Amino acid sequence: MKSRDQIEAAYKAVTPTSRAQWERSKSSMPGGMVKGAYWYPPYPIYMESGEGCYVSDLDGRRLVDFANHHTAMILGHSHPNVLAETTRWITAGIGLSAPTTLEAEAAEALCERVPSVERVRFTNSGTEATLHAGRLARAATGRVKLAKFEGAYHGSHDSLEVSVAPSLEDAGDASNPDAVPEWDGMSRATEDTVILPYNDPETCALILREHKDEIAAVFYDGKPGTLEIPDEFTRFIRDITSELGILMVMDEVISFRVGYSGYQALCDVEPDLTTFGKVIGGGLPVGAFGGRADLMDMLDNTQPGNRIYQSGTYSGNPLTLAAGIANMRALTPEVYEHLDALGERLADGLRRAFTDADIPARVVQRGSLLHSYFLDPDTPVSDYRTMAKHDGALAHDLFLATTLEGFFTGKGEFVLSAPMDHGHIDGLIRATERVLAA
Ligand SMILES: Cc1ncc(COP(=O)(O)O)c(C=O)c1O
Repeated sequence: MKSRDQIEAAYKAVTPTSRAQWERSKSSMPGGMVKGAYWYPPYPIYMESGEGCYVSDLDGRRLVDFANHHTAMILGHSHPNVLAETTRWITAGIGLSAPTTLEAEAAEALCERVPSVERVRFTNSGTEATLHAGRLARAATGRVKLAKFEGAYHGSHDSLEVSVAPSLEDAGDASNPDAVPEWDGMSRATEDTVILPYNDPETCALILREHKDEIAAVFYDGKPGTLEIPDEFTRFIRDITSELGILMVMDEVISFRVGYSGYQALCDVEPDLTTFGKVIGGGLPVGAFGGRADLMDMLDNTQPGNRIYQSGTYSGNPLTLAAGIANMRALTPEVYEHLDALGERLADGLRRAFTDADIPARVVQRGSLLHSYFLDPDTPVSDYRTMAKHDGALAHDLFLATTLEGFFTGKGEFVLSAPMDHGHIDGLIRATERVLAA
């Protein structure tokens, strides 16, 4: 593979307009971006448009989109039904100061797909969904602590943005991980966060038993396609939380894209509450949380005595819900079969490419989500501390180099969309082979 300098020089040569835009944006936005997650050196590509499984950048380059907007664009870009429904509601009214029929329609679509979900409330982001689910869990149990897993991200609020990607020096003893605030400026809410290790039932049982009278809920993202967590471990977390009277909140903000009824159906688990985002909004800002009727009905402010509230000016706005309903209608079981097959094909191809190039790598895949890690190929990546040891610099170089070949991926992350076919998958595999051989 070429050196970092060679790859960056080639990147700069074909992205001068993105570079100029980045220079301009820096004077009005910190780092030249609306959000930190867009950053990668030397500067990000600025996009102009998207259609189907392609995005086009400011320099007029068309790239196959394997990033799909942080996993949200499962139908790709400009899906005709999503466009038609959002256009209809732009004309009908964008903010109408009252509920519309869309809310119940979108809520019914989620309840129909996910048996554990009996009632739903919409928010504007996954962050708000997990925030309100945590508050509801505290109100329902009268306890203040929330437990979460090391390496899991549940949004950017103080209770849960803890031990998301701690350095291994800060993370503490593996058998009792420290709660590490992710950023400066966070409140002491962190002190009420309990950290659990993925895929270690004995340690989880010890920690949960010790804190059982203080923990309102365990937040759980099974991270399909990111970590290799056995379904039995997910079921174990359901069983022990039930036994100890702790609520289980399944975070399906990303994992809902791996199956018609989400990841919970694939591992046969019914959580008490579920949080959603991304694909349920058809690409518009969205979040939702739902679950057991007895819990969710605590949010019913038509009943006197309920002392918990959830709202938001744009929560459940017509454009988002119209796009989300159109998106969910198009997401039939056949679409998931198609995505599963493409995911397996890409995983096989990438594994072959790394083996042929003699690069130790592990490719993790479930449905339409994949990650490649540069580390010992024989060790499953089933917990944060294993994942954290992978060679991120190599993943970055490969990402930039495949971008030059016309494939826009994440850094070691590959997200599929329904308009893709074998040609797109094989194209990325061949591009990876070329990059590794260069
Ligand atoms: C698992 C998970 N939960 C919650 C969130 C927060 O969602 P949002 O970015 O919509 O606030 C994310 C975002 O990436 C996520 O991956």
